[in-house]
Amino acid sequence: MTDAPLPLAPRLDLADGARIPQLGFGLYKVPATDATELALAAIDAGYRHLDTAAFYANEAEVGRAVRETDVARDDLFVTSKVWKDDNGYDATLRAFDDSMARFGLDVLDLYLIHWPVPSTDRYVDTWRALVRLQAEGRVRSVGVSNFHVHHVDRIIAETGVAPVVNQVELHPWLPQRELRADHEARGIRVEAWSPLARGRVLDDPTLALIAARHDRSPAQIVLRWHMQQGVIAIPKASSSARLRENLDVFDFELDEVDLAAIAALESGERTGRDPDLD
Ligand SMILES: NC(=O)c1ccc[n+]([C@@H]2O[C@H](COP(=O)([O-])OP(=O)(O)OC[C@H]3O[C@@H](n4cnc5c(N)ncnc54)[C@H](OP(=O)(O)O)[C@@H]3O)[C@@H](O)[C@H]2O)c1
Repeated sequence: MTDAPLPLAPRLDLADGARIPQLGFGLYKVPATDATELALAAIDAGYRHLDTAAFYANEAEVGRAVRETDVARDDLFVTSKVWKDDNGYDATLRAFDDSMARFGLDVLDLYLIHWPVPSTDRYVDTWRALVRLQAEGRVRSVGVSNFHVHHVDRIIAETGVAPVVNQVELHPWLPQRELRADHEARGIRVEAWSPLARGRVLDDPTLALIAARHDRSPAQIVLRWHMQQGVIAIPKASSSARLRENLDVFDFELDEVDLAAIAALESGERTGRDPDLD
């Protein structure tokens, strides 16, 4: 017998009219051999948002879960990303076709430029390709990942089209205050990758204290913090129990004292690369 599904995460409006579930399941480093089963477990638990990428080498298995589940395709939100090597107009169009063939799906919900790779200077052309794919109805929403504000400024200046989402590394050590303020003013949603700092922030004693006070786990405290910041978060987990724990954050609230204590954890530490260094 499986556990009852949890309440669904709320959906946030995107500037193009689409609506994204605020909490999703991220599948980086989920081996292809486990991806269908874990994606189905996530959907059973109540997740409606799956985040993958060509680079994660599990698009086929994620697509299979989306095709096999009883949950309607329109109730699911699937994101993928064009990898660094495929930046450029024609290469991106080809990469998208390859991704969709692997997924076995007609339409994607969100397609992102995975990294800007400023040294190759092809991200504006990549962006033009995404705008074309959206105009053709092959993807519902288009956005970017790992873009600093100045990269976002440039694609808007050169194409007149703004991304609806920027997926960046974001967690209590790296809350991305300036980027969030900029994007809020422009109506660009911020999505947190490695929302748990790859699990590393969870040993922090401040989080343990807050968790004990709310009778929750440190992961639930961090994910609740993301939700209260209005950020989209896509934690990865490798078991049904953790998938459920991470989605179960919609029936309690952090107060001002909790939020101030978490704000004090900011150190600027990244777990991944600075996008300007590629
Ligand atoms: N756009 C990008 O460049 C980019 C880069 C990195 C990641 N991402 C996306 O963001 C997603 C999440 O990032 P991430 O996988 O790097 O890191 P994360 O979600 O911050 O952390 C995942 C780690 O935390 C552990 N964990 C999860 N839930 C837990 C819980 N309740 N209690 C204790 N430990 C827990 C996981 O362990 P187990 O797996 O052992 O359960 C795993 O080791 C990725 O899957 C991917 O979709 C995007």
